[in-house]
Amino acid sequence: TSRQPDYRPQYHFSAERHWINDPNGLVWIDGLYHLFYQCNPFGTRWGNMSWGHAVSRDLVTWQEQPIALPQRELAERTEAIFSGCCVLDKDNVSGLGEAGQQPLLAFYTSHYSTAPKPMGRQAQSLAYSLDAGDSWQFYGGVPLIHLHQDNAQGYDADEFRDPKVFYHAASGYWIMVLVLAKDRKVIFYRSRNLLDWEAVSTFSDPGNNPGDLWEVPDLVEMRVGNSDDTRWVLLLSINTEGAHRQAGSTQHYFVGDFDGREFHFNAADNPPVRDGAHPGYNRLDWGRDYYAAVSFHNEPGSEPLVIAWMNNWQYANDIPHQGFRGQMTLARRLHLRQQDGQYRPVSEPVRPRLQNETERALVPDHALGHREAMQVRLPATTQRLSLNTCGFSDGELELYLHFGEDILAVHLDARRGIARLDRSGLTGSHLPAQFAACDSAHELNLADASLVIYLDRSSVEVFGREGLWSITQQIFPSAPLGAVSVRHTQSTPLQVQLSALQTG
Ligand code: FRU
Repeated sequence: TSRQPDYRPQYHFSAERHWINDPNGLVWIDGLYHLFYQCNPFGTRWGNMSWGHAVSRDLVTWQEQPIALPQRELAERTEAIFSGCCVLDKDNVSGLGEAGQQPLLAFYTSHYSTAPKPMGRQAQSLAYSLDAGDSWQFYGGVPLIHLHQDNAQGYDADEFRDPKVFYHAASGYWIMVLVLAKDRKVIFYRSRNLLDWEAVSTFSDPGNNPGDLWEVPDLVEMRVGNSDDTRWVLLLSINTEGAHRQAGSTQHYFVGDFDGREFHFNAADNPPVRDGAHPGYNRLDWGRDYYAAVSFHNEPGSEPLVIAWMNNWQYANDIPHQGFRGQMTLARRLHLRQQDGQYRPVSEPVRPRLQNETERALVPDHALGHREAMQVRLPATTQRLSLNTCGFSDGELELYLHFGEDILAVHLDARRGIARLDRSGLTGSHLPAQFAACDSAHELNLADASLVIYLDRSSVEVFGREGLWSITQQIFPSAPLGAVSVRHTQSTPLQVQLSALQTG
C-alpha cells in the first residue's frame, strides 16, 4: 500500500544513476576535491568496472563528471579498471607533463578477463591527465607492476590490487601500498619517478584468518592529539567469508611506524582487540557499512581526510535501489588520541552545511527519571541529532528513531561499555537477507555519553565521545522520520539535552 520513501541521499555522495563502490583517486587540486569511484556505467549491480568522477568545493555538494577511465577492450581480453589512487606530480618527476605542467597520475588495478601469461589477472597500471582530471590517457601498452604467475614467493598473482601512492618526505621516495588479497599481505613498493617501482617489504596477517580477503590499503601519518608527535597508521579493509564471520566487509587499522621501506606494527601501541572485532584486528568504524576508506592526496589539511564506501559486499548488490545503488560516507578527519599508553583513532566528520539550516533545542535540559518515556516530534529534514547526558554511570540508555512503525535503536550500556546501533526494527520491503543487523562498538567509557548522529534519507552515522568510536549503517525505512524518544534504566534521574539540526 505505502509508497517507498525517497532514498536519495541529501548530503552524502551518490551517483545520479547506476552502481558505485569504492572511492578511488581522492585528490585535492586548487580548491577542488576530486572523487573518483568504482562504477558500472551500465547497470545497478557490480560489473563493467570503470572510474566515475565527481568534484566538489565543500565535500557535500558534488558535480558528477563524465566517466574518467572506462573499462576497455584490448586485443585479446577485457580490462576492467579496479580501485586505485591519484597523485598530483607537482615536480613532473614522471616527465609525463610538458615544461610547467603538473600531470595528474591515476594508478589503478587492471583486472583482465583472462591472464596475459606469464602474469596474473591483476596488475598495476597508469593513466594520466594533463588538464587536472578532465581528460585521460592510458599510459604505455603494459602495466607498470605485475607478478609472474610462478613467482618465487608463491603469491596469488590473480589477487594483487588496490595501489595507494604517497610521498614519503623523510626518505625522498614515492611509496605504493598494495594488497595481495588472498595471501593477506600488504606489499610496499617505492619509486623516485613514479614509473619505475621496486618492491621493498611486506606486512602479513598477524593472526591466521584464511578465507579473508585483504583489500584497499592506505598508510597515513596521524597526529597524536595536538602535539607534533605522529604515528603511521595502516588502514585496511577486510572482506570476510565463512560462516563464523558475521560482519562481511569491515574497516580496520594498525598503529605502527614506517621507515620508508617497512611498516613496523607495534602491538603495544594498539588497543587490545575486544569482542565484536574481527579476530586480531581493531575496527576504525564498527558499523556494517563502512569499507574501503582511503585518504585524499595533496589535501592542505594537516590531518588525513578519508572517505569510505557506505556498503557491505554481503548484500551490496541487493539493497533497494531507485536507479542508483550505493553511496559514500561523510568525509572524516583522522587523528590519534593517546589513552592508557595506546593510540586510538578519532574520526571527525566534516560537517555538511546545508541551506536554511537551523539548530533547535528539542529538550534544553531535562532530568529524565528512571524508565520515564520521553518522545519528541522530528521533521523528516533532520540532518543531525545531538544527545548530551550528565552522570550516566549505570544501566542502559536507549534512543529510538521512529520512522512510522519502523524503529532504529541506539543502545548504550554504561557498565559493559558497549554501544549498539540496531536497524533490525526497520521493516522496509525488499531488504536483502543479512541486512537486519545490530552492530556494537566495544570497550568504551560511556560515562560522558554524548552522541552525534548524522541522519540522511538512507543512512546513519553515529559518533560517540567526539569520534573515538563510530558506527555507520545504511537504513531503508518504510516511512519518513517522525520522532525520537529516549529512556534509560539508570536508578537515578539522568540530565538529558537533545538538539537537532534541521533544514527548511
Ligand atoms: C573493494 C574491491 C577492491 C577492488 C574493487 C573492485 O571493495 O573489491 O579490492 O579493486 O572493489 O570493484
